[in-house]
Formats: sequence, C-alpha cells, structure tokens
Amino acid sequence: MGVAVIVVAAGSGTRLKADAPKAFVPVGARSMLERALEPIAQLPALEQAIVVVPADRLQQAERMLEAAGLAGRGRAVIGGAERQDSVLAGLAVLADAADTVLVHDAARPFTPVEVFERVIERVGRLTDGEGGAVPVVPVVDTLKQVDGEQIAATVDRSEVRAVQTPQGFPRAVIEAANRELTGMHTDDAGIVQRAGLAVVTVEGHPRAFKITTQDDLLRGMAMYAEDPA
Ligand code: C5P
Repeated sequence: MGVAVIVVAAGSGTRLKADAPKAFVPVGARSMLERALEPIAQLPALEQAIVVVPADRLQQAERMLEAAGLAGRGRAVIGGAERQDSVLAGLAVLADAADTVLVHDAARPFTPVEVFERVIERVGRLTDGEGGAVPVVPVVDTLKQVDGEQIAATVDRSEVRAVQTPQGFPRAVIEAANRELTGMHTDDAGIVQRAGLAVVTVEGHPRAFKITTQDDLLRGMAMYAEDPA
C-alpha cells in the first residue's frame, strides 16, 4: 500500500493573532509544520508527503521537508482561500503510486505516529460501502443544542465524538468525492459521507488536539517543555 499524506498548512490562523501563518508559528524550538512532519517521516508505507502552504512559504516548506528526511518523497504546493481548496491543491499532485490518501492538519503538530498507523491500518480493511477512517476522541464537556440564547436540548455525550486528523481514504474515493463537491466543508470525512459512503472511526489521541488560539499554543509549549527535541 502506497500512502500519501497531504498536510494542509496554508491557513492564516487569524484566531492565533501571530505574525506568521499558523503552521509556521514556533512551538518551542520548531514550527508546527516541522513538528507535524516528524511522525509522517516515520511511516514505513509512506510514498509521498505533500505540504500545502501560502505562496510565499514554498521554499521554506521545501527546506522543512528536506530537514525531516522527506526530500525525495516530499512536495510543497500553494494552497487556496479555504481549507478545502488547499486539500484540492494537494490532491492535484498525488504520485501515481499513492493508493491511500491521508489528509492532516499542520495545526495538530503533536499527533503521535500511532494515530497515523491506526488510520492507515483501518483504511486497508475497509469493506463495501465504507469510504474512510478518522480518529476520534470522547467529548468531555456537556453539549447543548441552542436556539439563539436559549438551550433547546441536551446532546447525549456518549453518542458524539470529537474528530481529529489525519483522516484516511482510498485514493479513488477521496478523488471522486472532491470531483462531485459542492459547497465548503470543514472536514474531508464529511465530503465522503456526502458522496454516500460510511466513514469509520479509530481511536484518536489527546495529543492530536488542534492549535487554534493562544491558549492552545501555551498547551503546546508545555508539551515542548517535556520534549524539547
Ligand atoms: O483554521 P483551521 O485551524 O481550522 O485550519 C485547519 C488546517 O487547515 C490548518 O492546518 C490550516 O493551515 C489549514 N488550512 C489550509 N488552507 C486554508 C485554511 C486552512 O491549508 N485556506
């Protein structure tokens, strides 16, 4: 099985209020994107790593791929206005040998390699009618459905999960689902579900949390203090 991982890193990260695009913001000694590449370089089945970045960051991203030991298998491309545009830019340059595609947020720089491995393993066992595998974690907060200011209903927490990345798909599935795409989506599993296929879950990891705000960045810095490499 040839695996391609598309790392979307072209977001501006306005909610982080940093002076660089989010994926290029340092968490300790290294940027989110550099950290995100680390587990990817450890994957035995890796055929290709594609990083999708802002136009003025292409060369920097290529240097990061090289430093991660991915020069021969790495490719940097320019992203688009929305996350989904950036995913499409990555899909457009898939290597011929890639038959499994993982889409990963650079904004989840501490995702352990085991999560990638679980997703890849589960994609390898998809059956008829199943189109992808995504990592999930339990939700700790009590969830409410709201109607304006008012609470409309309590959501049964045991029935919901928070979805992380990498999200994995057979290449043909993710390509076809994106060809038929209308409207914008915040995750790739949603696109495959819209195409009528089931998406299955695997165990995610607390460390795969997404860095969105400055508080998230502080949490990442605390992890960096544990692991300064
Ligand atoms: O903004 P948010 O944190 O939801 O973005 C998730 C991931 O998608 C980030 O890694 C970000 O860099 C990427 N992204 C992108 N292109 C965009 C918007 C977001 O690659 N236009």
